[in-house]
Amino acid sequence: MYEIIETIVRSAGEIVRSAKHIDESVQEKTSHCDLVTKYDGMVQEYLRRELLTAFPEAGFYGEEEEVHDISGRSAYFIVDPIDGTMNFIRHARHSCISVGYMADGKMEYGAVYQPYTDEMFTAQRGKGAFLNGKPIRMNDVAMSESIAMFGSAIYYRETIPATAWLMQELLPLVLDFRRSGSAALDICYLAAGRADVFFEACLRPWDYAAAGLIAQEAGAVVTALDGTPLRYIDRCSVAVGSPSNYPELMEIVRRILTEPDMKGRIR
Ligand code: IPD
Ligand code: CA
Repeated sequence: MYEIIETIVRSAGEIVRSAKHIDESVQEKTSHCDLVTKYDGMVQEYLRRELLTAFPEAGFYGEEEEVHDISGRSAYFIVDPIDGTMNFIRHARHSCISVGYMADGKMEYGAVYQPYTDEMFTAQRGKGAFLNGKPIRMNDVAMSESIAMFGSAIYYRETIPATAWLMQELLPLVLDFRRSGSAALDICYLAAGRADVFFEACLRPWDYAAAGLIAQEAGAVVTALDGTPLRYIDRCSVAVGSPSNYPELMEIVRRILTEPDMKGRIR
């Protein structure tokens, strides 16, 4: 099954790579900074058709759907057709296709494909994480030796003060920060040892479902920012760290969450 999914995800990459006149199809979704192109829809429809033809019993939970209905399904795909849409619109060539497979409430498989660099990150629960078929492992480093990646959760303006505070607390402790514009790739970068800690105050399941499993299988600790398990429905913050730096991240978040005006600012 997982080889078939990987092949489908890889072939969807051609739609992204060969996209033309991207700016002509840009539309606003929830706000002026939340954008979508016709290619997001094309990739999603391609994935839906191919995945559900191969696995007709499965459900489909994709970012660009009007209604997200997986009720009554015990197994379904969680799909972000293009994660890093803003990068895609600006021709930054740092976006990915993300497909997770959840069964009986557990993430069983994840594939995150960067079509411009031809990098395929994959993981099957309990079987380790891979980049283009080769095993990858996270660096288990202390916060002082960590590169931090983060997402700004910019579609959820109420989270801005908490994000700013987290950045302010973390920046003096780490080697440096990175902000790439694709949460799925950020989390896979941790899995591959390219960075060491990640946070975002609010994400949706398609942004982290596949990458979260990949990071976990590479040795990362992956939870919501308050330390509870990820919720794969609706909105949820995400924290990813190594066994060594994750407790320090949790300590900072705990301090922030005790402030009265921080209530509800981290999902
Ligand atoms: C976004 C990216 C970004 C993150 C946002 C996500 P999209 O996904 O992952 O890095 O900060 O929160 O929504 O909109 O490009 O699919
Ligand atoms: Ca997306």
